[in-house]
Amino acid sequence: MTPTLQVENLQTQFHSRGGIARAVNDVSFSIAPGEVMGLVGESGSGKSMTGYSIMGLIDPPGEVVGGRVLFNGQDLRQASAEQMRQIRGNRIAMIFQDPMMTLNPVLRIDTQMVEAVLAHQNVSKATALGLARDALVRVGIAAPDERLRSYPHQFSGGMRQRVAIAIALLNRPDLIICDEPTTALDVTIQGQILFEMQKLCRETGTALIWITHDLSVVAGLADTVSVMYAGRIVENGTVEQVLRQPRHPYTYGLIASAPSRNAAGQPLHQIAGSTPSLLKLPDGCAFRDRCGNASAACSQIPETRQLDGRSLRCFHPMEVELCATL
Ligand SMILES: Nc1ncnc2c1ncn2[C@@H]1O[C@H](COP(=O)(O)OP(=O)(O)O)[C@@H](O)[C@H]1O
Ligand code: SF4
Ligand SMILES: [Mg+2]
Repeated sequence: MTPTLQVENLQTQFHSRGGIARAVNDVSFSIAPGEVMGLVGESGSGKSMTGYSIMGLIDPPGEVVGGRVLFNGQDLRQASAEQMRQIRGNRIAMIFQDPMMTLNPVLRIDTQMVEAVLAHQNVSKATALGLARDALVRVGIAAPDERLRSYPHQFSGGMRQRVAIAIALLNRPDLIICDEPTTALDVTIQGQILFEMQKLCRETGTALIWITHDLSVVAGLADTVSVMYAGRIVENGTVEQVLRQPRHPYTYGLIASAPSRNAAGQPLHQIAGSTPSLLKLPDGCAFRDRCGNASAACSQIPETRQLDGRSLRCFHPMEVELCATL
């Protein structure tokens, strides 16, 4: 089966006076139809820029400088600007942290949603309106008819994000990239949206990349997980494998520091040190300064290798088995 998305050695850089920040550094992964991949890592690790690079939305001073992005076998890096416009919002949708990246402040919701359908589907306006209404219901919006007649400023932030998600669902794309879209929503709504997205993927074969710093979301939603550190994917495998037997010391640190794994009132486990600037990384393994397993060998860059059914960039993998998942 052709993967919906196959990313090969993707490289995106930002040029600044301080040097070149390799925001996406030799990133490879693939997602099958209907599969949900969690993309996790601390702030600044390159998660959003991976999503933007796939969508062709990197602007100067950023630049995609290498690799391939195969979408249903077509290399998006070779696609024209017009082809990319057609693909975006139709075959691939991105849901941003800020819903106003998707919503037009001066148009009513029904106008925006109907336009989004009619731009890509040959249906009547009435059918498009029906699809818009259904999509609002799917993301848990009560009184959808009334909401359709509203403007974005009449919604709360959480409600706006639900509308943005509904717009992404409208044309049943093959791939949806979600960039921490539910962080601002309350837990119940978040759960409802995650459930709906997972159901949609199973039913329609939509592949989903869910970008988050919250591993418990990944544990509940995703099939596979890619862990990013300083622009590289350091571990990638099934959620079951990676969260139960993390092999990369950084993955282990992320799991151990997840609030849901720690008892109330206890101090949280923390990964030593702080996230480094991409302009000041140590030579070799970028995690070296913070890693309890580091040795002299780690002054070389660890290549990706296969271990226990997952891919891994580390010279000295952990040997732990966690009894409780997140
Ligand atoms: N506009 C920009 N100018 C310069 N560097 C940037 C810019 N946007 C992102 N970067 C670089 O890309 C890195 C990754 O950013 P990002 O993908 O947004 O991280 P994440 O989504 O994981 O928090 C940042 O740490 C920064 O070095
Ligand atoms: S390669 Fe070395 S420094 Fe990097 S994570 Fe593995 S053990 Fe730690
Ligand atoms: Mg981000």
